[in-house]
Amino acid sequence: MIKTPIIIINFKTYEESTGDNAITLAEICSKVAEETKTSIAIAVQSTDIYRISKIVSIPVLSQHIDAIDFGKNTGFLLPESIKQAGAEATLLNHSEHRLDFDLLKKSIERAKQAELKTVVCAKDAEDAEKIAHLNPDFIAVEPPELIGGTISVSEAKPEVISDSVKAIKSINNKIKVLCGAGIHNKDDVKKSVELGADGILVASGIVKAENQELALRDLVNGLC
Ligand code: G3P
Repeated sequence: MIKTPIIIINFKTYEESTGDNAITLAEICSKVAEETKTSIAIAVQSTDIYRISKIVSIPVLSQHIDAIDFGKNTGFLLPESIKQAGAEATLLNHSEHRLDFDLLKKSIERAKQAELKTVVCAKDAEDAEKIAHLNPDFIAVEPPELIGGTISVSEAKPEVISDSVKAIKSINNKIKVLCGAGIHNKDDVKKSVELGADGILVASGIVKAENQELALRDLVNGLC
């Protein structure tokens, strides 16, 4: 069950969130979620889904799935395998893994068939509006040029959040809206929520932090 408001941490393929380091970070996220009673989820590498989902009590997401069926698809990520490994949802169309629109549509359909919730990334409000017609569970708006930086979307481009919320909710008000890129502190989170977001998608602000737990607790303070 993925509740909002939420903080989703994208582990990407950083060294600090790969393999054994992914386990350590996942345990931190689970502990902080439990202690602060906050909705926190983690998007981990597909190779880590199984062991992480066995040890944490928070939702685990895949970073991607492929729109394929059972059969001859060597090396692809089968949605049903991802589900059986323990994921509840999947990211799709991340800025670092864009899909063309038809493939995105098929990927959302396949995720639904496999009972995986979908968190689809969009680069701006116009993109978000188009994606809203595909009825994913979440849309995460992330201006690509701010990803991995230190200036947050809520600071540099607040209108991207408010315009996206307006556009998405006017098409389907059940879709939850997240925002991300450059989010580093509680003020970034607070402002995102004030602008109408149902939560945030964050990576480097937590994964690359000197103290990951303190960085996460700071973001949590912005959500409450
Ligand atoms: O998926 C999250 C993301 O792309 C934002 O990355 O490092 O700017 O928080 P970051």
